[in-house]
Amino acid sequence: MAEVVIVENSEAAGELVAAEIVELIEGRPDAVLGLATGSTPLPVYLALRSRLAGRDVSQVRGFALDEYVGLDPAHPESYRSVITREVVEPLGLDPRRIHVPNGAEATIQHAGGDYEAAIDAAGGVDLQLLGIGTDGHIGFNEPGSSFASRTRVKTLTEQTRADNARFFDSVDDVPRHCITQGLGTILRARHLVLLAFGEGKAQAVADAVEGPLSAFLPGSAIQLHPHATVVVDAAAASKLRLADYYRYTFANKPEWQGI
Ligand code: GLP
Repeated sequence: MAEVVIVENSEAAGELVAAEIVELIEGRPDAVLGLATGSTPLPVYLALRSRLAGRDVSQVRGFALDEYVGLDPAHPESYRSVITREVVEPLGLDPRRIHVPNGAEATIQHAGGDYEAAIDAAGGVDLQLLGIGTDGHIGFNEPGSSFASRTRVKTLTEQTRADNARFFDSVDDVPRHCITQGLGTILRARHLVLLAFGEGKAQAVADAVEGPLSAFLPGSAIQLHPHATVVVDAAAASKLRLADYYRYTFANKPEWQGI
């Protein structure tokens, strides 16, 4: 099962995961990062600013999880814009090495296959950051997504559109379709790091970590991965049945193991 690390707050989570990413880049300057959007990974990107300052990150590569279909990439809430604003610019990454699925309608029929080919050509993702939606989606893999799925177009649930409406003027402006790495794509990354904070994510986290394996609970796909780390605050951990065991395990973990 995934290793669950219960931290004090989102800042502590950001520092923990950022340290892991820095170590990865130190060992492999052209590391391939799997980048997530949403508010959850922001503390990681923030912590990386100071930790990466002064280091050579010119070779670092990245692949975002998903993108809205039909939204102008220049729109401030396109995931291309978000990744540029929150990750590429503040960390000084080379924008040519950072990929986001292409949500343009004109090329959408082959955009999924193109993205898979680009990930393969890069040798796969080393560390994939993940948030989780309140309905349990990872990337934009809504309930019902196949565990074997690859990058493709999906229809967003009304719940997800309502959740993401806060980034737009109104819920009507939230696109209905997205292009997202599949659960099967995500499972091919070498290390999964799923973050979640706050009570609102508690059920989705419990389902992902301890729930039955089910396409109805897309986050539960992480149970199939040999190296998955779940970093949560106490509120997001509040529905985990084995929370005490996870705390005990982490407190007694040999330092050399990392996360
Ligand atoms: C979006 C993204 C997901 C993200 C989710 C949760 O739907 N596609 O990758 O995990 O939102 O967002 P937040 O982290 O803001 O709660």
